[in-house]
Amino acid sequence: MTEDATEKLVELAKRRGFFFPTAGSYGGVAGFYTFGPEGASVKSNVEEAWRRRFTTQEGHAEIDAPTVMPEPVFEASGHLETFDDMLVECAECGASHRADHVVEDDTDIEEAESIPIPEVEEIIREHDLRCPTCGTPLADRPVEEFNLMFETTIGPGTGRPGYLRPETAQGIFVEFPRLSEYARNQLPFGVTQIGRAYRNEISPRKSIIRVREFTQAELELFYDPEEDDPDLSGVRDRTVRLYPVAEQEREDGTPYETTVGEAVDEGTIASPWIAYYLGIAAEWYESLGVDVDRFRYRQHLAGERAHYASDCWDAETELGGDWVELAGFATRGNYDLSKHDEHSEDRYTVFKQYDEPRTVERATVDPDMSYLGPEYGGRAGAIADALEDLAERDRSAFEGDSVTVEVDGETHEIPVEHTGFAVEEVTETGEHVVPHVVEPSFGVGRLVYTLLEHAYREDVVDGEERTYLELEPAVAPTFAGVFPLTDEAGLPDLAREVAADLRAAGLSVTYDDSGNIGRRYRRQDEVGTPFCVTVDHDSLEDGAATVRDRDTTEQVRVPIEDLPGALAALRDGEATFDELAADPQAFG
Ligand code: ATP
Ligand code: GLY
Repeated sequence: MTEDATEKLVELAKRRGFFFPTAGSYGGVAGFYTFGPEGASVKSNVEEAWRRRFTTQEGHAEIDAPTVMPEPVFEASGHLETFDDMLVECAECGASHRADHVVEDDTDIEEAESIPIPEVEEIIREHDLRCPTCGTPLADRPVEEFNLMFETTIGPGTGRPGYLRPETAQGIFVEFPRLSEYARNQLPFGVTQIGRAYRNEISPRKSIIRVREFTQAELELFYDPEEDDPDLSGVRDRTVRLYPVAEQEREDGTPYETTVGEAVDEGTIASPWIAYYLGIAAEWYESLGVDVDRFRYRQHLAGERAHYASDCWDAETELGGDWVELAGFATRGNYDLSKHDEHSEDRYTVFKQYDEPRTVERATVDPDMSYLGPEYGGRAGAIADALEDLAERDRSAFEGDSVTVEVDGETHEIPVEHTGFAVEEVTETGEHVVPHVVEPSFGVGRLVYTLLEHAYREDVVDGEERTYLELEPAVAPTFAGVFPLTDEAGLPDLAREVAADLRAAGLSVTYDDSGNIGRRYRRQDEVGTPFCVTVDHDSLEDGAATVRDRDTTEQVRVPIEDLPGALAALRDGEATFDELAADPQAFG
């Protein structure tokens, strides 16, 4: 789709109530968009489809955590320290820009996010890059790290510092001890969440593609890397277009097609869990209407990965000539759970039972407090703890007459005879391990935008230009429009009855009797309604109505009593329009 067509889509989205800038009456606020009735409907269809595929069908559990969390959570997760983008400010007009985007937009360099700041400053100087707002050179401007989290305070007064979550994931990680119990401490298990995330983007742009408040659908799969593998049998033969690091770094490298099975066997996708999710996600995206020719999986370059990820593949789609990330599939290892284990008072492990009990040697201490107390006063307890730690870590430290421990920066020599040091044989039935995590993280708004853009069509019907959205029934805001052809006595009542019967059959239906029939069809075409049903004068006589197909505009007469069954069959993919046209009573 060209830039021009992208503009047309954004205009259509605003005019027909898919999405529009928030609080326009007050001048709007960059990075915030409201989904109107049609857009909210597509969005909730996408969320429902995601829930069915990635929660229900996978047998995972869904949670719903708050969007605000206290500072220690984000200290532990590393977001306070490292969740930054590169900021450059124009000295002339004061506009803020993402330095990596300035580089990507005005040079041939791609994925500038992976380049260290000093090199980005150098590139800006060398290419004499300018402020996208006013054209002033940015050459001497510093590029700085800018933390993307929105800060708030919890409670009145100065309160406690808190942050709006920048990813829904931390709401799952912090509850791991409870969730693990819920899963009866059995790995692997998955937890999902669909909810809002917030990022104070430096320069929000491209309508709902880069906003400051958006919805994510995330899945955290907890597993034991030594024991658990996914069942790849259902996705092995799935074709995927991959753009691995090696291809990106090769001068004439390109994305290529392969199967999930081959990519795993050849080691292109290191984690079979990631491969599994790439396989099912490719199929899912296609089923919703993402154009497979404008879709690929790109592996992150080393400098591009988030602080928690050891590997990451993005689902990318082509929009208006650019490749845009739709979802990230990250290997998070045991990073998050280890951090919360370290920073909180809870334990973020599962107990892994051995097949057979094992006898192991364990070094222990039993410090003589009647010696440590008088000798070290208030520090005696801390010294005893330090001795215990040391025995676990390095038993050779106890080989001499005295052992050295450090407490609060001070070194103490403790005679070994007062430490109660011993090495015992113990029988263990298992061990505590920190599970590993892979995370498919989907953006809902970007997918809604993609579905609309990939479905955007223009054609000519009866000599008139028409715009329509070729949306899949599963995501279309409304499944059928029902109209009386005219306001002739009896027709509006009959059409309302038809609409009520279709709604009672669980179909999403809109009733419209305003304007001429051609305009009503155009209105439904423009919002992607797959079918329209019109009752006319003959309907009063023959009890049938006209069903019209959005994409071909072909029409077929169907007995009114058969409509609920026929339309349900079309929605559920049990019938095609051609099959219905061939036998209008077959699906009643
Ligand atoms: P980008 O590189 O485009 O900034 P990201 O790598 O920061 O994206 P992730 O952190 O992987 O994105 O977030 C997971 C998903 O959340 C993304 O794939 C995207 O669909 C969505 N997302 C992230 N940031 C935004 C945003 N500012 N606006 C809308 N959706 C977003
Ligand atoms: N949970 C992945 C991300 O939002 O960065």
